[in-house]
Amino acid sequence: MLFARPKFLFLAAIAVMVLAVFGYACGDDDDEGEETPTATGATGTPAGLTGDLEIFSWWTTGGEAAGLQALFDLYPDVCPGDVEIVNATVAGGAGFNARQVLTTRMLGGDPPGSFQVHMGHELTDTWVTTDYMEPLDFLYEQEGWADIFPQGVLDIVSYEDKPYSVPVNIHRANVLWYNKAVFEENNLEPPATFDEFFEVADALETAGVTPLALGDNGIWASVHLMETVLLGSLGGDGYKGLWTGETDWNSAEVTAALDNFDKMLDYVNDDHTSLSWDQANDLVIQGDAGMTIMGDWADADYKAKNFEDFGWAPPPGTNGMYQALSDTFGLPKDAPNPDAVKCWLKLVGTKDGQEAFNTLKGSICARDDCDKTLFDPYLQSAMDDWKSDEIVPSLAHGAAASQGWVEEINDAATAFITDRDVGAFQGRLADACVSAEVCE
Ligand code: GAL
Repeated sequence: MLFARPKFLFLAAIAVMVLAVFGYACGDDDDEGEETPTATGATGTPAGLTGDLEIFSWWTTGGEAAGLQALFDLYPDVCPGDVEIVNATVAGGAGFNARQVLTTRMLGGDPPGSFQVHMGHELTDTWVTTDYMEPLDFLYEQEGWADIFPQGVLDIVSYEDKPYSVPVNIHRANVLWYNKAVFEENNLEPPATFDEFFEVADALETAGVTPLALGDNGIWASVHLMETVLLGSLGGDGYKGLWTGETDWNSAEVTAALDNFDKMLDYVNDDHTSLSWDQANDLVIQGDAGMTIMGDWADADYKAKNFEDFGWAPPPGTNGMYQALSDTFGLPKDAPNPDAVKCWLKLVGTKDGQEAFNTLKGSICARDDCDKTLFDPYLQSAMDDWKSDEIVPSLAHGAAASQGWVEEINDAATAFITDRDVGAFQGRLADACVSAEVCE
């Protein structure tokens, strides 16, 4: 069976990430295949939809909630009738809490209408191979999406040749955000290398500013920081090899990467374990911290908080690399009100829906035909980078490794944040690769 063994899944994920670049770069820019939804249901939408439509996500912060609301606002235009949308959110960045609630509901036979799930291993290994999702080939055919989404994206949402979710965006994990005024006052430039990072961090500390804001009340935020450090230290091939077994988790290179991570943690705010990612971002906004390393949902957080004096750069060592993830929605088997859900999925994939959502969410469209001029300068730069950079999968956001593997890494990171024992941490990370059946 295709994708039956985890090892093949990881290899496949890497292959499709590479394809994603190729698919995007060669993407067809025309609108062919995209039909305009009409009130008469010309694209197959039954007119006169009714009932509740429960949309489950973890989008509760400023930019996240604003993007989601923009989709809700468009729903009646695309899906005529009288549907009541139930906004079922479970707060907590990266779905750290939401995933547990979702698992209980799915296993208990109580699925929401549709739910937010990361493209790649998080979707496929958890819900598709286990037969909890409906295939969406009918919708992709109806909407002509084979010509609209990059081939690599089509591949990664598919299992045994059928797509199982609709990607609403592409996010970038490896972004270093900084407070421009703080940097100017201290004559600093965003650091491109680890040496430069530690010089800048020392200068900020001397100036009485927290160098690096971190909010890991959900451990994923530390793992997020670590994944950028692994990428910056090991390079694209070395980093990708971690998820295929080609890079040795016990190697000196990984030790050096973890040493960099360990040293970075010396420069974070003392109260990091009690803050969320967006509260950490507030430290940058207030000028209490100089930098934070966070995905580009931080761009939307600045927008929602009317803060404009920020700059961005690739975290140390990651220039030319795009650590990618994507939020998608699917149709669970036995979802209540499936017609309303199918129309939601159609909306999520439309050009209008993706433009409305992503301009507020701090992400770029998964479609390759969105109007660039609608997007802010950061997102325009991300659109360019997505076409030219090397694409690598994010760990903390479900693209690089199965949920079980990520959870083991999260547990190891929780211990490391407290004991700061690099040797023990590396050993646990190496063991986690073996448990995932990717390393021997
Ligand atoms: C990611 C998700 C983003 C953003 C972020 C912080 O996992 O893909 O859309 O919401 O978490 O919550």
